[in-house]
Amino acid sequence: MYYPDDVVEEVRSRSDIVDIVSGYVKLQKKGSSYFGLCPFHHEKSPSFSVSPNKQMYYCFGCGAGGNVITFLMEYENYSFPEALKVLADRAGITLPQQEMSKEAKAQADLRTTLLEINKLAANYFHYQLKQPHGRVGYEYLTGRGLSDDTIRHFGLGFANKTSDDLYRYLKGKGYSDRILKESGLFTISEKGTWDKFWNRVMFPILDTNNRVIGFGGRVMGDGEPKYLNSPETKLFDKSRNLYGLSFAKSSREKYFLICEGYMDVIAMHQAGFTNAVASLGTAFTTQHASLLKRYTNQVILTYDSDGAGVKAALRAIPILKEVGISCKVLNMKPHKDPDEFIKNLGADAFRQRIAEAKNSFLFEIEVLKQGYDLNDPEQKTDFYTEVAKKLLEFPDALERDNYIQAVSREQFINYQDLKQLVSRTAARLGPAWAESRQRAERYGSYADSVARTPGSGGAGAGGSRDGASYGSRSGLPLAEGGMRGPGQRRREKDDGAKQSQRLLLTWLIEEPRLFEKIRGIISPDDFKDGLYHEVAEMVFEAHEAGTVEPAAILNHFINDEAQYREVAALFSASLKESLENEQQKKAFVETVIKVRKHSLDEASRTAADIGRLQEIIKAQSALKTLHISFD
Ligand code: CTP
Ligand code: MN
Repeated sequence: MYYPDDVVEEVRSRSDIVDIVSGYVKLQKKGSSYFGLCPFHHEKSPSFSVSPNKQMYYCFGCGAGGNVITFLMEYENYSFPEALKVLADRAGITLPQQEMSKEAKAQADLRTTLLEINKLAANYFHYQLKQPHGRVGYEYLTGRGLSDDTIRHFGLGFANKTSDDLYRYLKGKGYSDRILKESGLFTISEKGTWDKFWNRVMFPILDTNNRVIGFGGRVMGDGEPKYLNSPETKLFDKSRNLYGLSFAKSSREKYFLICEGYMDVIAMHQAGFTNAVASLGTAFTTQHASLLKRYTNQVILTYDSDGAGVKAALRAIPILKEVGISCKVLNMKPHKDPDEFIKNLGADAFRQRIAEAKNSFLFEIEVLKQGYDLNDPEQKTDFYTEVAKKLLEFPDALERDNYIQAVSREQFINYQDLKQLVSRTAARLGPAWAESRQRAERYGSYADSVARTPGSGGAGAGGSRDGASYGSRSGLPLAEGGMRGPGQRRREKDDGAKQSQRLLLTWLIEEPRLFEKIRGIISPDDFKDGLYHEVAEMVFEAHEAGTVEPAAILNHFINDEAQYREVAALFSASLKESLENEQQKKAFVETVIKVRKHSLDEASRTAADIGRLQEIIKAQSALKTLHISFD
């Protein structure tokens, strides 16, 4: 953290979260909270809540949550100091200048300067298009069917053949060689400094805040490489940005189109498909998927119709599924890519293809089929067996049956026969096999850890979809059947203990009067999980001092995204009923007992001497007759 805690806390406590969030999201009051459509994932009914009491937001749909500072960081893509500055300015607080460490300040300044440089470069390239030297670039773009409006909208430009004009232009503005080097726009050698991009039409790449973070450049004629991109810089991370997203994010369609190239994105937008994006000359990554998940849960892949495009689609499908985005694949044939398709057949034909896009599973089956000669009976059998195995990846019987129907229809296989083959294959391979395939399918490589710790989900807002609904955790993939080793059983037990600790913390936050009920029974040391222990200490301490302010406690975790997500989920989980209900009272007492019992069990395992052990045993038996009165 660059600023002292009390400065951060002052800024936070003087910025009302309802005030700030309503600048971005339409909120409606419901009980003691406000609700609206979540800005971090696509949804139709509001599951995004803002609590004025807790000064926190939390989405019950995607698990995004935090305080007023993290809201701006996530929404505006601000760094922590940037978000703090905006809030401080709003609240009329002057941030101390020198409190930032030298290093941190230099980093923040560097980012700002690099953004300036990129913006100047983009304007420079754009200006060149209309100059005599840039005519070739302008004619190239219009020759490919782009209108002046489109060229302006996307800020397209031209890097001319002069080898160092951009360099001289920026030097003239006073930038040092050191910083220009960091921009990725130049090649620096002993012989001198040259513009990296020349004789290329230029595509500025914007982040979701419409700030230029890098460039792609297409060579004029047949030079190599055809497309050249900015290298990774402090601003530009190819695996976290998508070309066209700055525009596509405000499209009204509920699905997105994903394609391969700059020109494809632009051609689609020009034809009215303003929901198109492309990954930037790299393969589609999990980070791309989480980024998209903020805006949609449905995509149509419009990759090239060649072998590379099919391969890219097969790769992207599980990545998208993993974050909960369903996808379809568009058939581009007989054309190569969206740009060519639209140029030849027009927007209406493309819209028709969108309507006909194939479900990604059926697409995978179709591709699989191409590896077999179906005139050969043996290969045909092998193909059917593979199809049956793939169908087993659906854990839900009803869903699986829907797909059996669809595949039998598409592939002309008798439905009953296919259904039987699937059952026989399942019996032959055993439940453990199907389960491991399902898990691999659903959670990808980082399966277990994320699936088991709600709220600790990895990158992006899609990390912890059901972080708040403790009840639903019993539906974990390992809950039924399959083979379980002792290690797994132990882990489940730990999960149970962790869950009780989490639940108890939530209860204490929701109903501070419960502190009185557990006085002398539970202390922060009973929270054994590292993160919960830390949180418990702060919560108990705050309670002793007067009031518990969740949003203030959250500030302590702001530097660790995974942790603050988990803590935000913890503070925002809502209890289904209050303690008016007898059952809830019982559940509360049971939770207290579980937390304390787990703590004592662990203490007995590590007890240093007999005396201590006797104390623990006494405490354990006292726990059996524990009574908490609610009157
Ligand atoms: N690409 C790249 N580097 C290359 C080739 C391609 O980064 N050497 C990326 C670019 O983002 C490009 C996309 O892959 O937009 C698609 O490449 P390709 O299919 O070769 O190009 P087209 O989009 O068909 O290009 P054009 O229509 O301009 O010939
Ligand atoms: Mn093309």
